[in-house]
Amino acid sequence: MNYYFAPMEGITGYIYRNAHNKVFGGIDKYFSPFISPIAKKDLKTKERNDILPEHNESLHLVPQILTNSAKDFVRIGKILANDYEYEEINLNLGCPVRTVVSKKKGSGFLAYPEKIDEFLDIVYNELPNLKLSIKTRLGMTDEEEFDELLEIYNKYPLSELIIHARIQADYYKYTPRLHAFKKAAGMTNHKLCYNGDLCSLEDIEAFHKEFPMVDTVMIGRGLLTNPALLQGTLTKENLLTFHNEIYTSYREVLSGDTPVLYKMKELWCYMGALVPDDKKELKQIKKLID
Ligand SMILES: Cc1cc2nc3c(=O)[nH]c(=O)nc-3n(C[C@H](O)[C@H](O)[C@H](O)COP(=O)(O)O)c2cc1C
Repeated sequence: MNYYFAPMEGITGYIYRNAHNKVFGGIDKYFSPFISPIAKKDLKTKERNDILPEHNESLHLVPQILTNSAKDFVRIGKILANDYEYEEINLNLGCPVRTVVSKKKGSGFLAYPEKIDEFLDIVYNELPNLKLSIKTRLGMTDEEEFDELLEIYNKYPLSELIIHARIQADYYKYTPRLHAFKKAAGMTNHKLCYNGDLCSLEDIEAFHKEFPMVDTVMIGRGLLTNPALLQGTLTKENLLTFHNEIYTSYREVLSGDTPVLYKMKELWCYMGALVPDDKKELKQIKKLID
């Protein structure tokens, strides 16, 4: 099985990734939180810092771009490929957030299959040597939309297709649409990666049992909650090392206590689920960072 760490904006930046890779490892590819290009502009400082090869030295990073403009994708793609030697770039067609969707980006782009076709045509003409992967949802309002989308994806030599088995309207609610994922798996020759709600080794095992032909899964919240998920050995010691690695690095790059507190607090929103029943310790942590 190949394991990918899902991109999570605001959380899985290079500081988190490096700490995770150093303390736990076991991840075949990390994906950067999305880069959102501005017309005619270069990468923003924060985006550049996140993908700089010297900030990602001992891990495999795939930068992700969120846009509906082929021109912007190509411009940023050329920077990533030529200046930073990235071989693979991922296109975000999954983000369900309303402000993104209203700009016809992320899963909002899925409502315009013919525009996606034009987009991919331009990208492959301009960047013929680039490995392009797509992270997609199954549609905007109906999983039946995926038939047409998949027909378009099938026209292009994608390096892989990562499917978050929900539609935009699901947001992160309900159970993933495994039946629709199964249908898609039967309709494509693309290398598939499954994403959605794999939060334990049992979940992964059950998925593998049902989909033995899909050998790659992407995990997000499950790994945020238990960063040792794939090793199965979270100890007080490795959690503390991991925590301190992240905390120290944030202290070095962020100015002042407040932004560091916000970052740590967001992490505890996920890792807090690990704290045992009485939650006294968690309450203490929350009190400290409130
Ligand atoms: C806080 C947060 C930020 C996210 N940021 C991104 C992002 O930048 N790019 C992306 O493709 N998906 C993003 N996602 C979606 C995740 O990558 C993933 O698809 C989703 O959490 C489902 O996987 P999971 O059930 O394993 O968590 C984000 C999700 C969350 C909760």
